[in-house]
Amino acid sequence: MTLATMSTLLADHRAVGAFNFVQLELAQAIVAGAEEAGAGVVLQLSQNAVRFHGALGPAASAALQLAHGARVPVVVHLDHATDETLVDAALAAGVRSVMFDGAHLPDAENLARTRAIADRAHAAGAWVEAELGEVGGKGGAHTPGVRTDIEDAAAFVAATGVDALAVAVGSSHAMTERAASLDEDLISRLAARVPVPLVLHGSSGVPDAGIDGAIRAGMRKINIGTHLNVVFTGAVREALAADPAIVDPRTYVRPARDAVAREVARMLRLIVGGAGE
Ligand code: G3H
Ligand code: ZN
Repeated sequence: MTLATMSTLLADHRAVGAFNFVQLELAQAIVAGAEEAGAGVVLQLSQNAVRFHGALGPAASAALQLAHGARVPVVVHLDHATDETLVDAALAAGVRSVMFDGAHLPDAENLARTRAIADRAHAAGAWVEAELGEVGGKGGAHTPGVRTDIEDAAAFVAATGVDALAVAVGSSHAMTERAASLDEDLISRLAARVPVPLVLHGSSGVPDAGIDGAIRAGMRKINIGTHLNVVFTGAVREALAADPAIVDPRTYVRPARDAVAREVARMLRLIVGGAGE
């Protein structure tokens, strides 16, 4: 399989699952889960994860190599970039899908900077996602009350030329309980008015039925990060508790990687096929 493009992945699935990885074994698990489900997938590397690794290169190269070796289409995506030089570095490294996150900026500045990045990314043949109406929670405080204005969203997309838009519809980043309730009516109205795919951020906090409902209402890209960390860390805790003599990381990372792969496969079946369990 070659590296897939976001437009092809979206054309081939009712919605796409986009999973964040913070370490190699999570990226491996995401690809393995997609292969198990027989569905394409988006492998996401956030600016925060790049900072954790100290550089873009090692994690981006690993993701691109995993994508090239996968038995299903895989898109490698730079997620939540606020640093424009990181976007340029990702494009230069071969990443062909990027999110510029200017949602924290005043609207006029978000628009101007997003438009400039969209022009550069399109010149490199890449797909661009932006955000309007900040999906809160990145600092730990959940702010699910924020909503994206429909007319603002339509005008922002027309003025920037972005290929997809992250919207605030009731989810919040970094939730460890799947208890968020989405505004499906707003999703439907946004989908009818905004001519590009809509992206749901903070999907870890949304239960299966809410994810299915959001897709039926018009969401096309479902971003999931924290939930995989919950599954991974839970499995690590279990393995360590079962054997206090463990010293080799492979002994506890292997079951955690397998658990994440199973959960990615389960969630992808829900996202691409509506097969909730
Ligand atoms: O961009 C990434 C997603 O919005 C992930 O959010 O960690 O709350 O699932 P989450
Ligand atoms: Zn996000």
